[in-house]
Amino acid sequence: MRHDREHKSVAAYLCGYISHMPARLDFLQSMTGLILALFIAAHLLFEASIIISKDAMYAVTRLFEGYYFFGESYPGIISFLAAAIFLLFILHAMLAIRKFPSSYRQYQLFMSHMQHIEHGDTRLWFYQAITGFMMFFLGSVHLYIMMTQSSDIGPYASADRIYSDWMWPLYLLLLICVILHAAIGLYRLALKWGIFEGARPKQRRKLLRKLMFITLFVYLGISLMSLGTYMVIGYQHSDRAGERFILSNEQPAEVQP
Ligand code: HEM
Repeated sequence: MRHDREHKSVAAYLCGYISHMPARLDFLQSMTGLILALFIAAHLLFEASIIISKDAMYAVTRLFEGYYFFGESYPGIISFLAAAIFLLFILHAMLAIRKFPSSYRQYQLFMSHMQHIEHGDTRLWFYQAITGFMMFFLGSVHLYIMMTQSSDIGPYASADRIYSDWMWPLYLLLLICVILHAAIGLYRLALKWGIFEGARPKQRRKLLRKLMFITLFVYLGISLMSLGTYMVIGYQHSDRAGERFILSNEQPAEVQP
């Protein structure tokens, strides 16, 4: 069977036929990566609403639950969105696996190559492969929880999950991996597809690298602050873990004696 396929591809090569499949797969990998990177860029900013206040984060949660459109919250919308992102995440990972070294020998070759040529962008590819591999596991846990527990999102519910349910080590690793992976990915996409190309390509590459590092550090700073804020809220709320948040202007009036 495998022999047959090999013969066919050799025959196709000899007849001058070139398969477009690798290019199509590459394009699909770039597109799924771009959509995921843009999603993450928006997601981490929405998450950062907790830095402003608990009310702000609650308002963002309600927005995604459709409250401002339907007058009622439907967490199912978040489950649906999480399932769609999960599918995209799996597709992107499947396409990326093609590029991983598939044996120890290939890995050794790549490492010695990387050390010898001292090429910054090859090193960046290596970081992207490592962070991508870690996200197979870290991202899957998070997405599965978002799909199945979408009604447990909010200033207290999220903070309790992060602090009392010990999700913070996973989030800390995930945020470092996803920010590195997405920032490097966007930089490499811009180079690969020739965006911003023009005169003086060396200078442009330098500028792109600078932009990548600025984005990376700004996002790391904001996301670490968000995680820290969730941790403080979770710690302060730990003796009442499980209790839901109520907007300050929706608190029931105190019963007067
Ligand atoms: C539709 C899909 C997603 C939803 C609904 C979602 C929702 C959330 C929510 C509500 C939190 C706050 C913590 C919590 O409640 O547990 C959070 C945190 C986080 N999510 Fe997602 N997420 C999604 C997809 C992703 C993906 C694909 C990634 C990366 C692979 C990701 C990475 C993170 C990180 C790193 C944090 C911690 C952020 C911080 O503390 O600054 N999320 N997400």
